[in-house]
Amino acid sequence: MITNPLRDPRDRRLPRVPEPCALVVFGITGDLARKKLLPAVYDLANRGLLPTNFALLGFARRDWGDEDFAELARDAARKAARTPWREEVWERLAGSVRFVQGSFDDDNAFDELAATLGELEGTHGIGGNAAFYLSIPPAMFPIVLKQMQRTGMADSTPDRWRRVVVEKPFGTDLASSRELNELVDSVFTADDVFRIDHYLGKETVQNLMALRFANSLFEPVWNGHHVDSVQITMAEDVGIGGRAQFYEQTGAARDVLQNHLLQLLALTAMEEPVEFSAEEIRTEKLKVLRAVSLPEDLATSAVRGQYEQGWLAGQRATGYRQEEGVDPHSTTETYAAVRLGVETRRWAGVPFYLRTGKRLPRRVTEIALVFKRAPHLPFADTDTEELGNNQLVIRVQPDEGMTLKFGSKVPGSVMEVRDVAMDFLYGEQFTEASPEAYERLLLDVLLGDATLFPRNAEVEASWAVIDPLEEFWEGTTPQAYRAGEWGPRAADEMLAAEGRRWRRP
Ligand code: BG6
Repeated sequence: MITNPLRDPRDRRLPRVPEPCALVVFGITGDLARKKLLPAVYDLANRGLLPTNFALLGFARRDWGDEDFAELARDAARKAARTPWREEVWERLAGSVRFVQGSFDDDNAFDELAATLGELEGTHGIGGNAAFYLSIPPAMFPIVLKQMQRTGMADSTPDRWRRVVVEKPFGTDLASSRELNELVDSVFTADDVFRIDHYLGKETVQNLMALRFANSLFEPVWNGHHVDSVQITMAEDVGIGGRAQFYEQTGAARDVLQNHLLQLLALTAMEEPVEFSAEEIRTEKLKVLRAVSLPEDLATSAVRGQYEQGWLAGQRATGYRQEEGVDPHSTTETYAAVRLGVETRRWAGVPFYLRTGKRLPRRVTEIALVFKRAPHLPFADTDTEELGNNQLVIRVQPDEGMTLKFGSKVPGSVMEVRDVAMDFLYGEQFTEASPEAYERLLLDVLLGDATLFPRNAEVEASWAVIDPLEEFWEGTTPQAYRAGEWGPRAADEMLAAEGRRWRRP
């Protein structure tokens, strides 16, 4: 390859295209593969971001040939792709789609997979490079990893790379995640392991770093001297879809709090990294996660809930216990809220309120910094009755953007001060649509850029926060909330007891 000596290798403005390679997907018939991964592969191809020498391999039990898998991938891509459909792009991709049939305990099938990768080196010039995407239940990881080890498929050499992508949840508690991490690390070298937390692939989440570290406006107030509290919300209007079996064993805290919400907290609270590199960013996030503390009295600072039947957008929504595949006496939580501390000089004493839930009134993810009130207001009390705290709200989704809330005089002859909002909307400022999180992350895997992937130690530090919470909740029944409400009343009471209120996004 000819390199331009004038080009800074860190200059990321030109599109980066991975080296020739293959993407192997385990679990191709699952929801994630159909809804996210296969469409993302097409979108990347459509944007010209896949190498010319690329192959897509599916591995599953079904009695299929290459064409069957190609058809499934085509259907999935057509349904969920974000870029316009171009038959010629698909045709080019379809020429390098392969399917290997077998179950995970079938040695022959894995031998065949290894042989197929070997063949593709000759026929498609993939150069021996491959990423293996484990879109399968964690219980299946050991057997698949052992097969990869046995066949030598996991070995990176100076001439070729082999990487593995592991989906969350990484284990179910600290002990099991340690075990899982050890297992993955015994098969792949640490640099070749990519743990996906798709929230880190979202444009606004990355913008949080731009916002904080590219501006001089925000950082001076980004600390406990000025910030009263931080609220991080991930609300969903949907229920559990067809995932009862997974969700029953997981619950909201393990599904979302342990990963997405704690990662958002880490990015909000971390110090400036020495440089914008995987190593430095992950180091700063880890420091925050290790500094996270749970309050002593969990009874008053954590709430779990479960939705009952209710109404959402004019439609009747079934209760969680009535969902198909859910135990009618289930005590799994579909809502979790907790007050955390971050024991650093910057954040000591500032509560971080995290909440997530299913069947809440709307889908919204946001990070809100609620600022302290002005120390003195030279107005009559009645003039500022409708003045709240200043807030900076980073909307992760939908309507990606940012809102600054502050007080302004109401026009007229009397002095009345009320909250107003100043909005920045991605859709208004930029013409380019943001890539889907999975698109961005898949590309990063193929490029070998680990910046947006949590390290082992981060995952473990996050479990260390969640484990005591799960232990405390063990054997208890979650509080009920009606579908379409903002969670159980106890969650409101938790903040009210501290003189605060949840935002109603
Ligand atoms: C997943 C959770 O990680 O994130 C799901 O397992 C949740 O329960 C999903 O619905 C939400 O993702 P997004 O990108 O739609 O906010």
